[in-house]
Parts: sequence; structure tokens; C-alpha cells
Amino acid sequence: MTLAYPLASNAAHPPRLSPAYKSTVKRSPTKPLIPMRHTLSELTGPVYGHETARENDSDLTTQHKGEPIGERIIVHGHVLDEEGRGVPDTLVEIWQANACGRYIHVRDQHPAPLDPNFTGAGRAQTDSKGYYRFVTVKPGAYPWGNHHNAWRPAHIHFSVFGYSFVSRLVTQMYFPGDPLFPFDPIFNSVSDEKARERMVSSFDLENTKPEWALCYRFNIVLRGRNATPLEA
Ligand SMILES: [Fe+2]
Repeated sequence: MTLAYPLASNAAHPPRLSPAYKSTVKRSPTKPLIPMRHTLSELTGPVYGHETARENDSDLTTQHKGEPIGERIIVHGHVLDEEGRGVPDTLVEIWQANACGRYIHVRDQHPAPLDPNFTGAGRAQTDSKGYYRFVTVKPGAYPWGNHHNAWRPAHIHFSVFGYSFVSRLVTQMYFPGDPLFPFDPIFNSVSDEKARERMVSSFDLENTKPEWALCYRFNIVLRGRNATPLEA
């Protein structure tokens, strides 16, 4: 078990203040951060047990009576540490808009339909090799009011819990070739091009299921030179 976490892994992560991404202007700190020493209880727990993530939690298409509308997809990958070792038994949580680009949330009132058969949240535990797998539908792009004609590229939010609360990490997974990439201040708040590419999943024909679902691979590297950019 890792008992010390580096404060800053590398320069890949977006700055807390990215003026083009408007909400960071008010919520980013204006004074230098004060480092807080982690206590043993923060570093060692609480943790999720094996029974916390049930088997069908990872299939977002079977959580209701009927099947959700949209393009069924498989999203899978490895959670890796800086040495390329799989991180086993860690909780991976996702949340996303439906195929029309609408979230079930009071703040999301844009004129796209909700889907009674899609909640848009799921979780899975990595296996002994650090591997996870979800079945879901491809989320739609949605408008977000950051600037004139602002649309988010299709994305799935990811949280990797790690060993304890202080190691929880959050990022977003994108889909290859999205035409909205150049216009999205959140995607571009990660200034390094190579780091941005690490937030884009790759199309995985080998694991695409014939007659059933396309597959995308998204590996999450927690630390080090190849770290996936993470939200502050
Ligand atoms: Fe989102």
C-alpha cells in the first residue's frame, strides 16, 4: 500500500485557473496553498469492500426496465501506476450524459430528452490485474453556456478511488476524432498536446463485439511521466 502521495505528479494536469474555462476564475484559489499533512486514518481508509460494487453496476444499459436509446458501447482499460503496474481492487466510478447529451440533474434543463431507461452512473472494481470494464451508451455532446455556442465534446467522467479518500482522482474520457476538441476550454486547459491525447480513448476493434457494440479502450495512468491529466 502506498502511504505517501506526491503533491504534484507532473506538469500534465490543468492549472487551477484556466480563464477560458469560466468557472475556474471564481473557484480557483487566489492565495498560495497550505500543505496539510495526511493522517494515518486518511491514508489507510475508509475503503470500499468487494460487496460495494455489484456486478451489474458496471452495465449502465440494464439498470432499468427497458434498454436506453443510443449507441451501445463497451469501455474498458487498465488502471496503472507510474511503473505500468496494474492497480488491483480499486473502485472506478463513471457518470455521463445520455445519448442526447442530457444529464439527470436539476441544473441541466437544455431541450434534449431524458431517457427513462438511463441514469448515467455506474461503477466497477478493477480485477487483480487492474482491469475494468463498463457497458454503456455513447454520450451526446451538450451545450454548457461557457461562451457563445459552447458545446462539450462527448465525454465520460471517471473517478478512481485508489486506496483511500485522499487518493481519489477525477478525469474525463473523450472519444477519438471529436470535431469539438479545438473549441473546448476544458479539454484545452491541459496545455500539453501529448497529455491531452491521454484523455482520448482509442477505438478497439479487437474487443468490439460483432453485431452488438463498439469498444473503446481507456487506460488511466495515475502518476509519472505518462499520467492521465486529472482535475484539481
Ligand atoms: Fe460532463
